[in-house]
Amino acid sequence: MLRVGYPANLNADLLSIMPVGIELISLPDGLDHDVEIDVWIPDPYPTRAMRIVPHLRGVRLVLSLMAGTEWIPGAMGPHLTICNARGAHNISTAEWTLSAILAMLKYFPLFLDVQRSGEWKRRFAASSHYVEITGDSRPLYPPVMLEELTGKTVLLVGYGSIGKEIERMLEPFHVDILRVARSARIEPLVHPVTELNILLSRAQVIVLILPSTAVTHWLIDQAQFALMQQGTLLVNAARGPIVNTDALVEALQSGRIRAALDVTDPEPLPLGHPLWGCPNLLITPHVGGSSPQFAVRALKIAAGELRRYIAGEPLRNVVQPAV
Ligand SMILES: NC(=O)c1ccc[n+]([C@@H]2O[C@H](COP(=O)([O-])OP(=O)(O)OC[C@H]3O[C@@H](n4cnc5c(N)ncnc54)[C@H](OP(=O)(O)O)[C@@H]3O)[C@@H](O)[C@H]2O)c1
Repeated sequence: MLRVGYPANLNADLLSIMPVGIELISLPDGLDHDVEIDVWIPDPYPTRAMRIVPHLRGVRLVLSLMAGTEWIPGAMGPHLTICNARGAHNISTAEWTLSAILAMLKYFPLFLDVQRSGEWKRRFAASSHYVEITGDSRPLYPPVMLEELTGKTVLLVGYGSIGKEIERMLEPFHVDILRVARSARIEPLVHPVTELNILLSRAQVIVLILPSTAVTHWLIDQAQFALMQQGTLLVNAARGPIVNTDALVEALQSGRIRAALDVTDPEPLPLGHPLWGCPNLLITPHVGGSSPQFAVRALKIAAGELRRYIAGEPLRNVVQPAV
């Protein structure tokens, strides 16, 4: 019988969606003895998952509950198959992205400060903020207190599972969408990443939603910030190392761009790090993929892969085939 190890802290009720004919082995966080399993569903938190790796024996298939699996090949080696839970984060991460874009364009961080101060008239700080960040020097009356998303150009860097969901959610806002991925395609038009630098200057909102790999490391660096329009909103819903943090801090401190980050480099962002104090920045601590619906969705994806594995069918979300 196939032995499937899963994190002991998963709600046991959820496991009822697993296929029959397997033996489920609960793996506690502090596992202190060797365990023989065929399939491993790691804890979603890599540091917890990695703690028990030295005690796992016989693993042939890893079914991650997350989209990002960058730590697993290094920890487990090349001789096993690794699948991710592509799709499980689509809704929560796309909703986070939309919320972050709207919060920044509606100046919610600034208005939260006004609310905390209890001084209604401080709302006029929003009009100077608009002028400073956009560089709009026209005489404006009445004062502009926030911006619209409608009509803006949004550049999606990464057009996979989550990128497509973000596009779907952006539809009611009638934005112009530019898409970038590893490879080019048509219908809809997707530009190859080699054209990224040409496209950066055409967007007012740039969303990063692609994996962190050796190739995407510092994809957004000093040169890319220099190409962006004054006041561009950079939204990183992907992974911190895709952006050079020093260059980001410089671009924010100079007032050239604004940003919303669910992810940072380093992570966790240490107390006193320059990013915490940057202007025109909204940070959430890597929560974009989280929601009460996540565990069910991710386990359903893992259960589907297990069913195919047992039936000898091809798996759908292979990120590393066994060599
Ligand atoms: N903030 C969070 O909590 C959270 C939650 C979930 C996921 N994420 C991050 O979001 C990433 C994307 O997730 P997903 O489910 O949408 O992944 P996906 O379906 O695998 O899509 C990845 C997209 O990135 C593109 N891409 C890959 N390498 C690239 C490169 N070198 N240059 C340009 N584009 C490249 C791919 O291009 P092709 O289409 O041409 O292959 C694809 O369009 C994950 O890897 C993860 O790091 C973050």
